Amino acid sequence: MEITPIRPHVGAEVRGVDLTRPVSPETRERLNDALVDHVALVIRDQRFGPAEFLAAASLFGEPMEDQNRRYVVEDVPLVSVLSNRHTDSRGKPAKLAANATWHTDHTNQACPPKVTCLYPVALPDRGGGTSVCNMRAAWDALPRDWQARIADMRTENTLISSARAATGNPDVVADQSAAGGEPMVHPLVRTHPERGTRAIWFHQNKTERVTGMNPVETQKFLGELLEVAIRPEFTYTHTYRLGDMLLVDNRSAMHRAGFDYDHSQHRMLYRALVRGDRPF
Ligand code: SIN
Repeated sequence: MEITPIRPHVGAEVRGVDLTRPVSPETRERLNDALVDHVALVIRDQRFGPAEFLAAASLFGEPMEDQNRRYVVEDVPLVSVLSNRHTDSRGKPAKLAANATWHTDHTNQACPPKVTCLYPVALPDRGGGTSVCNMRAAWDALPRDWQARIADMRTENTLISSARAATGNPDVVADQSAAGGEPMVHPLVRTHPERGTRAIWFHQNKTERVTGMNPVETQKFLGELLEVAIRPEFTYTHTYRLGDMLLVDNRSAMHRAGFDYDHSQHRMLYRALVRGDRPF
């Protein structure tokens, strides 16, 4: 198995491993270490159905349910389906725009996923990649005054923030109203449980408030933070080939879906999530 860095700050490509076959503990450890070191891994030339994809994701930990239960593989419900052909409960094209902005998954949960795994099933001719930003590097490079300002900030997370509800997916807005309850509070800058490094970490659409700010101030502030923090040298856009498995270490990264493709063409990915710890 060969592991080759893709960019100095983010991404590595893995070749010469078939994850449908038994994997030794050493190989598993190398893959996990490479994911943590490089923040994103592209494992080439895999041939997965949903069950094989889930088994491959399970090499990185215990799978967890996607909280949107509407779009899952029927016989393998721990694998969800991301498709530009989904419709919402009103029969309208499902709004996927939340995935097209920098975010990390499921921040409204106490223990959000440590890894997001993606595998393409149908691809447009061009575009439609997934971008990953190394938010550990972004934290390290953040101007000192920003570091001091945000180091101890906390975010209060819901399924969808009230500031985004008017333009959000109506099913998600309805789910949020039904769920109610207290927002989930997390650090804005989290510590990696395996390495002790720090990373800027949030989902703007799910952040109801940064503690002490109102929802409108929160959205403005997080937008400004993204402007300062995300730098081209810390990002990698993965343009998929069929057979690629992309993994993102969510404890050090934020990601976004590319919307830069012909939407009359089909883009469909399988997604599996690996359970994480409580961020601290
Ligand atoms: C995601 O946000 O987890 C999916 C990203 C993508 O569709 O590229």
